[in-house]
Amino acid sequence: MKIRSLICLSILSVGLVSCQQQKPKDAYADEVEALLSKMSLAEKIGQLNLLDGSWQAERLENDIRDGHVGSVLNCSGETANQLQRVAVEESRLGIPLLFGRDVIHGFKTIFPIPLGQAASFNEELIEQGSRVAAIEASSVGVRHTYAPMIDVTRDPRWGRVAESLGEDAYLTSRLGVAMVKGLQGDDLTDPSAIAACAKHFAAYGMTEGGRDYNVADISAETLHDYVLPPFKAAADAGCATFMTSFNEINGMPASASKYLFTDLLRDEWNWTGMVVSDYYSIEQLKVQAFCETLDESAIYGINAGVDMDMMSHVYWPLLEDLVKAGKVKESVVDNAVRNVLRLKYQLGLFENPYCDTTRDSVFYAPEHLETAKKLATESVVLLKNEDQVLPLTDNIQSVAVIGPMANAPVEQLGTWCFDAEPEHSVTPLAALTEECGDRVKINYAKGLAYSRDESETEIPAAVAAARRSDVVLLFVGEEAILSGEAKCRADISLPGAQSKLIDEVAKAGKPIVLVVMAGRPLTIGAETEKCAAVLYAFHGGTMAGPALSDLIFGKENPSGKLPITFPKMVGQVPIYYNQKLIGRPAGDDIVLLKDIPVEAKQTSLGFSSYWLEVGYKPLYPFGYGLSYTSFDYKKIQVSNPELKMDGSIDVWCEVKNTGTRPGKETVQLYVQDVAGSATRPCRELKGFKKVEIAPGETEVVSFTITPDMLGFYHAVDGKTYPETGRFNVWIGSSSEGGLKSEFELVK
Ligand code: GLC
Repeated sequence: MKIRSLICLSILSVGLVSCQQQKPKDAYADEVEALLSKMSLAEKIGQLNLLDGSWQAERLENDIRDGHVGSVLNCSGETANQLQRVAVEESRLGIPLLFGRDVIHGFKTIFPIPLGQAASFNEELIEQGSRVAAIEASSVGVRHTYAPMIDVTRDPRWGRVAESLGEDAYLTSRLGVAMVKGLQGDDLTDPSAIAACAKHFAAYGMTEGGRDYNVADISAETLHDYVLPPFKAAADAGCATFMTSFNEINGMPASASKYLFTDLLRDEWNWTGMVVSDYYSIEQLKVQAFCETLDESAIYGINAGVDMDMMSHVYWPLLEDLVKAGKVKESVVDNAVRNVLRLKYQLGLFENPYCDTTRDSVFYAPEHLETAKKLATESVVLLKNEDQVLPLTDNIQSVAVIGPMANAPVEQLGTWCFDAEPEHSVTPLAALTEECGDRVKINYAKGLAYSRDESETEIPAAVAAARRSDVVLLFVGEEAILSGEAKCRADISLPGAQSKLIDEVAKAGKPIVLVVMAGRPLTIGAETEKCAAVLYAFHGGTMAGPALSDLIFGKENPSGKLPITFPKMVGQVPIYYNQKLIGRPAGDDIVLLKDIPVEAKQTSLGFSSYWLEVGYKPLYPFGYGLSYTSFDYKKIQVSNPELKMDGSIDVWCEVKNTGTRPGKETVQLYVQDVAGSATRPCRELKGFKKVEIAPGETEVVSFTITPDMLGFYHAVDGKTYPETGRFNVWIGSSSEGGLKSEFELVK
C-alpha cells in the first residue's frame, strides 16, 4: 500500500491576509497627480461617471468628447474602439475610457454558474476558467469585469444564489480569490488582464425572504464572521475594484455606507482600489427613503467613498454645483478621481487604450473548451447511485433520453452570460448521440417543451421511449431565466409538470438516472425516491453535455461536493450546516406530523427544535457528494493536544480508495469551538483538499491549524480573535460526521 503524505496548509483562514498583491498606494502617484492637476472640476467629475453603452453607443460620444464619461459598460470591440478614439483623440485631456462588462462565468466559452463551479472545490480549475474568461473578454476591449460575486448566502429562494459560491464564508473566500487571480492574472498591465470586482459589498446574500434588493437585518457577528471574510480575502488578494450592493444593512444602504467603503475597506483593510456603485444604486438611495433628493444621493455616495456612479446620472452632472456650493469638498472628489486614474494606469490604458479587432479570435479555443469541460465535469455532484446503476456499462444497448433540459442549449448556460452564443452549447443529447454512435440506441423524447411547461401531451411519448429502453436518462431542472438577478422563487420545486413527467416515466419500470440542471438547490426529495441515480449539474455552461456524457458512461468519475445545503422543503429555509447549537436540539425521538396521534396531548411530543412535516435535517448537507468509488477515512491524529496562541498544530488522517476505480475526494476539515463568550456554530469549514487517489491506495491528508483560524467577532470591542479553550475537530467527506478528535487552545 503506497502512502503519500499530502501536507496541505489551510492557506487562507477567513479574514486573514493571503498574498498581498495590491500595489502600494503610491503606484503611479506621480502620473496621477500630474494629470489631476490639469483637470477642471467638471473633468474630474466626468471620470466618476459610468454609463451603459449597450444601445446606440454613439449617443455617448458628445459627453465623452466633453470629458463627462470615465467608463462605459456593455460595449466592446469596434464599438468600444470608436468611443475610445473620441475619448483619447478628441477630448481635451485624452483620458482613456475603462470598458466594463459582467463576465460572471465566462465570456464566449461559458463555464458552469459560480454555484456549480463552487461544487468542484477546485481552486486551480476555477482560476483557469477565470483566466480563459479574461483572455476572451479582454480580446474585445473589456478590461474591467463585475466579478467575482462573493456574497455568502444560505437562501436558495434568492435568484442570485446561482452567481454565488454558496453558503460558507471560508469556501467563498478561497474560491473568490481564485477567480480574482484568474481574472487579473499576474500583472494588470498585461492586455489579457481584466480588473476584477468584489461584489456586492455587502450582505446582499442575506436579504430577508431571499427576495432580491430586500433589506438585510443581521447582527454584527453575522456581518463580520460570515459576510465580510470573503471580501477581506479578495482585498488582500489584490482585487482591483469593489462594487456596492443594492440592499441596506440594518438601516444603512450599502451604497451610502462610509463604514463599509472608507472606515473598513480603506482605513482598516488598507485597500487602495476603486469602488463602483451598482446600477442606479446611488439614485436608489432616494427610493430607499434614505434621502429625499438626488443632490443628497450624490453627497452620501461620494462621501461614503463610492468612486464611480454606475448609470444613476447623479455624480455627473450634480456634483459640480455641490462642490461649488461647498456641500461636497473638492478633495473628496479628488480622491475618487485618483482611484479611477490609478486603475487606468495600472491597466496600461494610457499606453494601450484600444483592442486589436483584426487579431484572430480567441473565442472557443480548444484549450478553452477543454477547461470548460473539466470544470463542468467537476461541478457535477452525484447525490444518489443505487445499485451502482452509474456509470452505464457495456451491457446497456438502449437509453431513453428524456426531459426539457436534455437538448436546451440556451438553458444549460444559466444566468449572466450576456455574450454567450447558444449555438456553441453542446447539449447532453448531442454529446450522448456522439458517445453512443451506433453502439447504443438513443430513444429521445422531450416530454415537456421547457421547464415550466404544464402541458402533458408529450408525456406518453416519453413513457413509451422509456419502455423501449434499458435505462432512462431524465434531464430536468430550471430554465436559465428562473435564476439570477430579480429571479427569486417562493417555491423551489421543479417547475411545470416535471414531477408529473418523472412519475409517469417511473411507471415504465426502468432505472432512471435523474440529471438536474438548475440555478439553485431544488426540493427534489420526492422525485429522487423514484430514481436510481441523481446527478446535480447546476447550469453547466457550453460543455455541460460532454461533461455529463463522460460521467454517465464512466469516462469520468463524479467528484463534486455541495457548496450549499439542500432543504427538503422551502419552509426549512434558512437551513445551513454551520448552525448554532441551540438549547433544545432535536434528536431521533422526533414525532413527524403524519405520526402524531389524534387528540395528542400538548406535552406528548416532547420539546425540541424541528419542523413537524420534515424533521430537522436537510435533504442533502453542505459538502456532500458521492463517487463511483468509495473512500475510507481512518486514524485521525493531532500533532499536539495543545495549540499555543503563537503556534500551530497539524491534524491528519488516512484516506483510502476502497473501490475499483480512481477518484477525486474533497477531504474537509471542520472545527468547533466548544464554548465561547458568544455562542458558537456546531462546526465550521476551516480547510479542504481535493485529492486524487488510485484504487487501493491510501493518502495521508494533513491540515495545519493556527489560532487565527479560530477567531470570531466580539461585539464588545469590535475585534476578531480566538478564545482559549477546547475545540473539536473533524476530517470528513461532508459537513456531517467525519473522524473526530480534539485539542485545546492555550495562551
Ligand atoms: C446589476 C447587478 C450587478 C451588475 C451590474 C452591471 O444590476 O446587480 O451585479 O454587475 O448591474 O450589469
